[in-house]
Amino acid sequence: MVKICCIGAGYVGGPTMAMIALKCPKVEVAVVDISVQRINAWNSDSLPIYEPGLYEVVKQCRGINLFFSADVEKHVSEADIIFVSVNTPTKTRGLGAGKAADLTYWESAARMIADVAKSNKIVVEKSTVPVKTAEAIEKILTHNAKGINFQILSNPEFLAEGTAISDLLNPDRVLIGGRETPEGKKAVQALKDVYAQWVPTDRILCTNLWSAELSKLAANAFLAQRISSVNAMSALCEATGADVSQVSHAIGTDSRIGPKFMNASVGFGGSCFQKDILNLVYICECNGLPEVANYWKQVIKVNDYQKTRFVNRVVSSMFNTVSGKKIAILGFAFKKDTGDTRETPAIDVCKGLLGDKARLSIFDPQVPEEQIMRDLSMNKFDWDHPVHLQPTSSNPVQQEVGVVFDAYEATKDAHGICVLTEWDEFRKLDFQKIYNNMQKPAFVFDGRNIMDVEKLREIGFIVYSIGKPL
Ligand code: NAD
Ligand code: UGA
Repeated sequence: MVKICCIGAGYVGGPTMAMIALKCPKVEVAVVDISVQRINAWNSDSLPIYEPGLYEVVKQCRGINLFFSADVEKHVSEADIIFVSVNTPTKTRGLGAGKAADLTYWESAARMIADVAKSNKIVVEKSTVPVKTAEAIEKILTHNAKGINFQILSNPEFLAEGTAISDLLNPDRVLIGGRETPEGKKAVQALKDVYAQWVPTDRILCTNLWSAELSKLAANAFLAQRISSVNAMSALCEATGADVSQVSHAIGTDSRIGPKFMNASVGFGGSCFQKDILNLVYICECNGLPEVANYWKQVIKVNDYQKTRFVNRVVSSMFNTVSGKKIAILGFAFKKDTGDTRETPAIDVCKGLLGDKARLSIFDPQVPEEQIMRDLSMNKFDWDHPVHLQPTSSNPVQQEVGVVFDAYEATKDAHGICVLTEWDEFRKLDFQKIYNNMQKPAFVFDGRNIMDVEKLREIGFIVYSIGKPL
């Protein structure tokens, strides 16, 4: 029986390993983490992450060939294949601060593997890492190896949150990068054999290590660039009377452009797009390519511009001040069907409105109050560094921010509503009832373009959408 161990029981490690366990009943999969709390949650009925379909998959395999454990060293030493799926956040201090990837967690995992390994191992980079990381990891492992052979593979993950299970079940492709030596090729084949249990072999792409590492950064950069492109167009649409949905549709029907990932929004969020582009920018700069670095930096600049533009629109529409006004925030997660708030645009929008002295009443179906308060009290980039996880001051936002458990409560007596996550349930709200309970004029700022604008206007709302005529 092949034994797999995955270091890091997060948004990637948990679902990915659950899918491998489901599809490979002859493989024993252990997912380990230094966070005992996270492991306990994986072993409970209340999983640490919200992801549609995940619980059903976990329930089918847990205790059979899928195990969650905090005994990291035991499972690492027993495994044939070790996935490393730890966080790789943006550095907050020192060389490359604000751009470079912080590989502290990765390096400590690699050193631990070298320490406890007693047999040959295939070590798989699952985390998103800077190109050439495998070389550094190889050095750490081989310089500390006691006659043990380590083969390093790059196998970046392309799942998106909210659709992780279907992405894993039916991936566009699985990418495996390895050394082009006989041992390297053998290791690639071993990992390919695992995925081939359910992924058609023509969708398993094999490349060299550096291509696999760079492809992951490139894929996220291209995806984010599409959103910044359509968001840049949305500003021009607002200035000219064009409608960004019509423009997206018109250009997306060109098969060379395609219709996906063309929704204008308040800005992209999530733990990876910004982090991975900053990482790419840093690598370009280090390689003496400032023009290439600047090109990708622009994707983030447009995203920041879009968030600021949204806040400015709210304030300017409400007679240039939101001071003391109650604003309802519908949705705090960075997208629907997840409780994840990492780099959510809601943080920037809320902070912007608080900067103008608004009072906020926030509702998200999956994000708890504690998480929202923590997010609003934390400095940029600190969220993924456990040592910084406590807010620096005693919660400065608590007085102006309320978190409530229903959209009607959030909007009661409010002057305006900001829709910041595209939760399906927001489309079905009784807006007449909401309107009746709000201050007048009642504003809706739809940061996700999910509202029926005509219907809202008929009720009496003043509605602002992204990239649409006023
Ligand atoms: P996460 O923060 O949810 O999970 C990482 C886990 O690793 C944490 O639970 C942490 O406690 C654990 N960990 C850190 N150091 C450890 C160590 N030395 N030993 C054991 N456990 C350790 O992060 P995530 O969202 O799963 O992302 C992981 C990686 O995958 C990142 O590099 C990210 O860029 C990449 N990625 C994420 C997504 C996504 O949708 N979230 C998708 C593709 C790729
Ligand atoms: C993204 C990629 O889609 C995954 O392929 C990748 O594996 C992952 O990052 C990663 O490396 O972490 P994710 O961030 O989970 O996945 O979610 P997306 O669906 O890509 O959405 C990212 C952000 O862009 C969200 O805030 C979303 O609302 C926004 N978005 C997306 C738009 O504003 N418009 C769109 O058309 C699409």
